[in-house]
Amino acid sequence: MKRRLRSSDWYVGENRNAYIHRAWMRRGLPASAFTGERPHIAIANTASQLTPCNAHLGEVAASVANGVYEAGGIPLEIPVVSLGETQVRPTAMLWRNMAAMATEEMLRANPVDGAVLLGGCDKTIPSLLMAACSVDLPSVVVPGGPMLTGTFRGQALGCGTDVWRLSEEVRAGTLSEADFLNSESATIRSRGHCNTMGTASTMALVAEALGTVIPGIAGTPAPDSRLLEAAHETGRLAVGLVSEDRRPSTFLSKGSFQNAIVALAAIGGSTNAVVHLLAIAGRLGIELSIDDFDRIGAEVPLLLNLQPAGKYLMDDLQRAGGLLAALREVRDLLDPEALTVTGKPLVSYLDDAQIWDHDVISTRAEPLQAHAGISVLRGSLAPGGALIKPAAATPRLLKHRGRAVVFDSIEDFHARIDDPQLEIDADSVMVLRGCGPKGYPGMPEVANMPLPKKLLEQGVRDMVRICDGRMSGTAYGTVVLHVTPEAAAGGPLALVHDGDWIELDLGTRRLDLDVPAEELARRVPNETTLAAYANPDRGWERLYVDHVTQADQGADLDFLRGASGSKVSRESH
Ligand code: FES
Repeated sequence: MKRRLRSSDWYVGENRNAYIHRAWMRRGLPASAFTGERPHIAIANTASQLTPCNAHLGEVAASVANGVYEAGGIPLEIPVVSLGETQVRPTAMLWRNMAAMATEEMLRANPVDGAVLLGGCDKTIPSLLMAACSVDLPSVVVPGGPMLTGTFRGQALGCGTDVWRLSEEVRAGTLSEADFLNSESATIRSRGHCNTMGTASTMALVAEALGTVIPGIAGTPAPDSRLLEAAHETGRLAVGLVSEDRRPSTFLSKGSFQNAIVALAAIGGSTNAVVHLLAIAGRLGIELSIDDFDRIGAEVPLLLNLQPAGKYLMDDLQRAGGLLAALREVRDLLDPEALTVTGKPLVSYLDDAQIWDHDVISTRAEPLQAHAGISVLRGSLAPGGALIKPAAATPRLLKHRGRAVVFDSIEDFHARIDDPQLEIDADSVMVLRGCGPKGYPGMPEVANMPLPKKLLEQGVRDMVRICDGRMSGTAYGTVVLHVTPEAAAGGPLALVHDGDWIELDLGTRRLDLDVPAEELARRVPNETTLAAYANPDRGWERLYVDHVTQADQGADLDFLRGASGSKVSRESH
């Protein structure tokens, strides 16, 4: 029996309300659009001129719309909240949950039967997926794709990663400021998101491994004509998803997240994927913890030689065979049952995948690193856990004991880091607090603190850094981040004093503050520490601070976990 379309509740009938819903939409749409035969597909578009990485998505949306029409559906493009990672302050992460909530509510409130989700820049795919999982309408993602590689003086430039590297060279005195500024116009060569294995690339590939993208599409560069073909195909699929009632809750499982975590490790992806996947799982009611990332990811080899862990960029990955070629190498670690949005298991797409350039994609037999993944540290400094990405760290620092140099805020850090009087050496452990979800608010990407100028000049290029914030997926270094609980939520990070000994040991997964428990129990955060915590008096920031969960819960709002489904109980008039 054919299922009644959700949009029919608005459009089909002879009463006054159905008349109103139809009449206002009949601006070029044929009468056949409202008979209850043709699915109405929302194209949730995060295109915005202030999200430069997504500015091209209008063209992608047009191809999706053609596919929807061709398959008999009605495409309806809706602009949704968009977040330009480099533009919005104080951090795009503060607005991820707002974007997810707004998209969820607009998909639910409107007469649509399914959705195609167009994202790219860091927070856009996570917010769209969180929304789609909570409203639980048939949905599929089209990642907007990375930009092409820019070059400067004959050298490829990786977005973000090379900005960090070059700016450190300026501070170290090995690159002139003029040369640094000259590289600015070469960094962003084309439309598309960052071309390193930063958060945007990571989330596009992870969304495919999770099963929410037609396999083989993620990673297609934004200017590549195959992206438009893929968008067209996705539009066609969206119509089919509605007739088969294939909603996120029907095909996403714990095994889907296992596949996403395996992919995250094999690609050397961003630590930001942890908070995003935890939040998406939370919307589906799937039990996922930070320990799953360590448990599942620890045995996965690093296969992609991409910045920041390696040297190549996203268009090299596409040329070398793409995500599926890498996943084929770790097929045995994937859940063979986990389905994709097409209705077929992810593993069924791996047979034809092939590596065309072994310098970009390694084989399982000769990986870049035997064990990649993201490790979880626990101990007296992080009772709820903290993350470290060993692939981006300096191996000798992964077992380290050093004295703390503490900063109460990112402003405090900037004010003092280059002070010649600052007591710090290469063995010190830099601690930055007040940067968690509540404290900042929004958990900014500041954990990869730049090193002190005086140590850079001595040739030091990495130190142990500890923070309750996040770091950019394009960053590198021995950085312990997402420390939970954060300082502003009562975590022991708030109690660290300058000169305290801190021990990091990746082998035992420990992160300890070497201060006797009795003394720690006597300590209270000092006034400067407390003054640095955010205390907004109104608006989204107030709501956020009152309800955001800690990093180990995905930093979602507590009342947004779970799904409400797509039902709306009342008419609008
Ligand atoms: Fe948009 Fe990097 S700034 S993906």
